[in-house]
Amino acid sequence: MKENTGNMHSRITELTGARYPILLGSMRFISLGEMAGIVSENGGFGQIGASGLTIGRLREEIRKARSLTDAPIGINIPVYRPNAFETLEVAIEEGVRTITTSAGDPNKLAGRIKEAGLKVLHKCSTVSMARKAQDAGVDGVIASGAEAGGHVSREQITTFALIPQLVDALRIPVVAAGGIGDGRGLLAAFALGAEGVEVGTRFLATSEAPVSEGYKSRIISADCDGTILIGRTAMPSRVLRNQAAAVVEQMERDGASKEQINAYADEFYCHDDPDKAIMPAGQIAGLIGTVVSVREVIEAIIGEARTRLADVNCYFQGRM
Ligand SMILES: Cc1cc2nc3c(=O)[nH]c(=O)nc-3n(C[C@H](O)[C@H](O)[C@H](O)COP(=O)(O)O)c2cc1C
Repeated sequence: MKENTGNMHSRITELTGARYPILLGSMRFISLGEMAGIVSENGGFGQIGASGLTIGRLREEIRKARSLTDAPIGINIPVYRPNAFETLEVAIEEGVRTITTSAGDPNKLAGRIKEAGLKVLHKCSTVSMARKAQDAGVDGVIASGAEAGGHVSREQITTFALIPQLVDALRIPVVAAGGIGDGRGLLAAFALGAEGVEVGTRFLATSEAPVSEGYKSRIISADCDGTILIGRTAMPSRVLRNQAAAVVEQMERDGASKEQINAYADEFYCHDDPDKAIMPAGQIAGLIGTVVSVREVIEAIIGEARTRLADVNCYFQGRM
């Protein structure tokens, strides 16, 4: 069956310039130029995670993305990083129009972002954080729920509970992140009032994702309880359950310091051996059963959301 994948429109497609309101989640050392370029070329909004990249490497990754697509790409800047300002200057010089910020106070970069005429979405996990971001002048928020892969907030508010509360509290548009792996997820997010989705875990299980085959196969074989939170006392992070995650849990029970836990997690982040690796992934891993291309992921999400919308409508028309 040919998917119906005509363009979509929301305030998030306006802000990003993408055909579909689907953002590639910023994933450290994974959401690089190639993934961003491929996602944008297929209608999503590919963003390059600047976390851990030198300024020179970031420029290379931006140019790599540009060699793969003429569609807009974005950069995610973790605000707390010492090179956040320099990263922003590179984004401006390279002509990036929309950036996302995370992990810190959005006020820090807001002045320069506005002066340069860029659009910015800030990642939040509570209503109070999102209100502060709106007051700082951001154009939208990415609301990250507790089911998401990677770093999650201590407050542990789920996507399903967080999105409608944010939509009611804010004037600016909301992107839902965490737990979205197919068209049903996109439709649910829109039903809750979101105007876009950010997807991480589903994009990891693609042929193009630059992670080991072992990582991909652990995602597609994971059950719904296949992830756990590690680093609860340091920086909570949702990862696939494996030997490495069990080591971190034991370190925590033994009273290891935040620095020791972070150092271990950094050393084994995405290691080639899937038993030794710390592999961030969200609870939606349990839904993912195959490794497909980025293009197939995006087309399936859009196509399925449209079909499912028609199915849901039947409930209101009294016919099944
Ligand atoms: C492997 C991995 C690495 C991630 N790294 C980052 C990061 O460096 N910065 C960030 O803001 N979010 C990071 N995230 C979160 C994603 O950007 C995205 O918000 C999240 O994956 C969405 O939830 P999902 O995994 O349920 O799709 C990461 C997620 C994963 C799975």
